[in-house]
Amino acid sequence: MNKNALVEAAAEVLKQNDRGQWTVPSGKLYPHQWLWDSCFIAIGLRHIDPYRAKTELESLLRGQWRDGMMPHIIFSAEHTTFDSLLWDKAHSKHAPGKEATSGITQPPMLAEAVWLVGQKLDPKERKTWFAKMLPHIISYHEWIYKERDPYGTGLATLFHPYESGLDNSPPWMALLRQHGFPWWLKLLDWLHLTSLINLGRRDLKFSPLKERMADNEALALISGVHHLKSKNYDSRKIFKDPFLLVQDVIYNSILVRANEHLIKISKTAEIGLDGNLVFKFSLTKQAIEKLWNDNSQAFNHRNCLNGLLVDVPSIATLLPLFSGAISKDKATKLVEKLKNDDEFFSPYPLPTVPQNSKYFSHFRYWQGPTWISMNWFVYQGLLSYGYKNEAEKLKNKTLELVALSGFSEYFNPITGKGLGADNFSWTAALTIDLAKD
Ligand code: GLC
Repeated sequence: MNKNALVEAAAEVLKQNDRGQWTVPSGKLYPHQWLWDSCFIAIGLRHIDPYRAKTELESLLRGQWRDGMMPHIIFSAEHTTFDSLLWDKAHSKHAPGKEATSGITQPPMLAEAVWLVGQKLDPKERKTWFAKMLPHIISYHEWIYKERDPYGTGLATLFHPYESGLDNSPPWMALLRQHGFPWWLKLLDWLHLTSLINLGRRDLKFSPLKERMADNEALALISGVHHLKSKNYDSRKIFKDPFLLVQDVIYNSILVRANEHLIKISKTAEIGLDGNLVFKFSLTKQAIEKLWNDNSQAFNHRNCLNGLLVDVPSIATLLPLFSGAISKDKATKLVEKLKNDDEFFSPYPLPTVPQNSKYFSHFRYWQGPTWISMNWFVYQGLLSYGYKNEAEKLKNKTLELVALSGFSEYFNPITGKGLGADNFSWTAALTIDLAKD
C-alpha cells in the first residue's frame, strides 16, 4: 500500500471512531475518551483537519479537575461499563461537577499535542489558541509537581499501573506482585479462582485471554482502584498509605518534553510563566539520568516504597531518548539495544519487552507486542539525537507493519500479526503523522 492510500485508510478509521467532539480509542472495546489517546489522535488529525484536532484537545478540558489534574478517562454518558462504575469521582472534592471521570491520570502528552496542532494554524490563530489552552496546561503541570512530587525530586510519582499507560508492563507487574496483592487475592490465586473475573471482562469479548492481562493481575489492579478511592484520590493520604508508588521512566521522559513545549507555548502566547514552576522543569530534566541503573545498564522505574530501581527490562528503557535530556553516551547505549536482535531488533520492531527477557511474550498486551505509540516516541527520540538513518528505518518498518496488518491496537513483533482491538485510533493517527513526516 502506498503512503497516500495508508493515510486515507487511517483517516477513515478516525472518522468511524469520531463521536463529534472527541474520538474513542476503538469503537467496540473503548467507548469513552482517554487522555493520552486523544493527544495522539490530535497529533494525527492535525494533518487532515486542524480544527477538529483542536476540538479533540479542548474536549479533554471538560474533564479537568478543579485542582488541575487531567483524568485518564472521561466517561461517555451513553455507555455504562465496568470502568465507569468502578471509578466514582464523588469520592473527591476536586472532581468536575458535570463529567464523570476516573480519579487518576496518564502520561502528560497534552502540551506536545497542543504545540504540534498549533503548528498547523496560522500565526494569529495559533497565538489565540495557545492563550486559551495555556492556563489549563499550566494548572495541569502545577498539579503534577504539587501532588506527585511533593518532595521536589524533579520526578513525578505514579500511583497505579493505569497511570503509566502500559497497564501490565513487566516492571509494573513485578511491583504489583511484590506489594499489590491483598490477602484475599492471594487466597483466590491459591485456590485458582481468579479466572472468575473473566466472566465479566469486556476486553475478552474482543480478544482471547492470552493476548490480554492475566486475571490475577486484573483483579489486583481493581483492588488498587478501590484503595485509591478509599483515600479520596487525595495524594497526601496516598503517599502515607500507598498502593504502589513509582517514578516511571516513560511518564517522566514525556514530562521533560512537555515542559519544554509548555515554555514554547507560553512564549508564543506572550504570557509569562511562574519562575518557580520553570525551576521545577529544570529539576526534571536533570533527574531523568537518576533513573539510569548501572547494574542493568538500562533506564529503570524507581520503586519509591524502597527507593530501589526496578531491574525488570521493558521498552521504558528507550524512552529517555524522547526526553532529549540524557547524555549522548547514554543515547548511544540505547541505540545499541535498539539494533540488538536479542533485545529490540525484532522482525517488526519495537517489541515492548526485549526478546531476551524471561517476561517476553509475542502476543500478550504490553508484555512484548509492538505498539505504534512506542515506535512514534522512539522515532522522535532518534531524530532528536541525530540518528537519522535509524529513525527512517524505524518509521518505514512501522508503516510497513500497519500496511500489512491494518490499524490494530498492537502487533506480534515477530510475525506482524495484528492483535487486540481493530480500527484503533492511535494506530491510525500516528500512522498519519509518521507518513506525513
Ligand atoms: C489501554 C492502554 C492505555 C490506553 C487505553 C485506551 O488501557 O493500556 O494506554 O490509553 O487502553 O486505548
